[in-house]
Amino acid sequence: MTSRQPIDEPSLDPELVEVDMHLVPPTQPVTGIVTSNEICLRGKSASFVRHVCVDVSGTPLQGAFHAGQSFGIVPPGLTEHGKPHKVRLYSIASPTVGEDGEGRILSTTCKRLIDEHSPQASSEEATRGLHLGVCSNYVCDLAPGDEIRITGPAGKRFVLPKAPERHDFLFLATGTGIAPFRGMVKDLLEGPDGPCKSDIHLVMGAPYTSDLLYDGFFRETADRHPNFHYHTVISREFLPDGRPQGYIHHYLDREIRLHGDLLTRDRALVYICGLAGMQTGVFQAMAKLGIGGPYLKVHEELAGVAPEDWELADIKRRVRPTHRCMLEVY
Ligand code: FAD
Ligand code: A2P
Repeated sequence: MTSRQPIDEPSLDPELVEVDMHLVPPTQPVTGIVTSNEICLRGKSASFVRHVCVDVSGTPLQGAFHAGQSFGIVPPGLTEHGKPHKVRLYSIASPTVGEDGEGRILSTTCKRLIDEHSPQASSEEATRGLHLGVCSNYVCDLAPGDEIRITGPAGKRFVLPKAPERHDFLFLATGTGIAPFRGMVKDLLEGPDGPCKSDIHLVMGAPYTSDLLYDGFFRETADRHPNFHYHTVISREFLPDGRPQGYIHHYLDREIRLHGDLLTRDRALVYICGLAGMQTGVFQAMAKLGIGGPYLKVHEELAGVAPEDWELADIKRRVRPTHRCMLEVY
């Protein structure tokens, strides 16, 4: 059962790095230049996910973004109603120093939104064919040298603490939710002050092994740094005993290293990024394991209800992450 975090323990809360926001507003995007655009999946997959690098030299974004923040992309053209397309946000996948080490090139991890078309409103007629997301497909089609309209940076809460060595980290990702963790892991382990010695666990959820993103980078980093641990949870593949691997919260449930050791430490921080809704299972698992207190504020109305009986609507309204739990889902 969860308990509230005692209010007389403020020292456990992280002091997050201070970041700039909205230096370039969505109404006045600036121009970046694409420098590379490459598939970043581990193998042949039904999805298409690309690592896209953008040179922001000479714009207010140069040197002004942090790992964990997002930036905006404004796709060209007009909507079916004749209005300019709205800005879409993409997580920054590069470290704070950028891909180039000088804050000039930022990157993201863009997944093509492709689905069979289905009516989105009762007034809309059913048509056959594919629904292709406007911005994600535009970004994935870009070639080196192409111009792109960008805004940002956005977000101030999903960033690393000022003193990372005072904390240990559990990073939980699904799909492109891995993007900010690529930048954060680089900040923590490849920064100018030398590698951070804290324990860092990254748990990545993907449908198939072939869908893993930046898998080579994370494996090599784990080989080089004994304090960095890379765990994968492949939802449509099986454990050696034939059980499904499940979702990341099932992994949390199974892995004593994560819940019994890491999360019970006063210095641990949890970062969750990816599919909207992924926090539900994680919150329930943490509460069920009796380790949710430092990471979750549970409304009094739910305090007497067993976490496995929490309804989705209850979790949305009555369970909030604390300062030790950063959440970015979309
Ligand atoms: P759109 O053209 O906007 O299409 C999506 C819309 O189409 C849906 O809202 C829905 O109304 C409609 N639709 C969906 N399915 C169907 C269907 N079957 N038939 C008919 N209509 C349908 N994305 C990434 O890839 N990488 C990231 O790092 C990333 N980071 C993000 C960070 C934040 C903070 C946020 C908020 C979002 C992030 N996103 C990221 C998501 C991204 O902003 C876009 O939402 C995503 O790329 C889809 O945009 P799109 O223009 O391609 O799709
Ligand atoms: P599945 O698709 O098997 O249901 P991607 O973005 O590449 O599709 O990967 C998202 C991963 O997150 C998949 O493994 C997907 O599983 C899994 N997933 C889907 N819903 C949830 C959820 N509510 N909580 C955690 N993981 C989820």
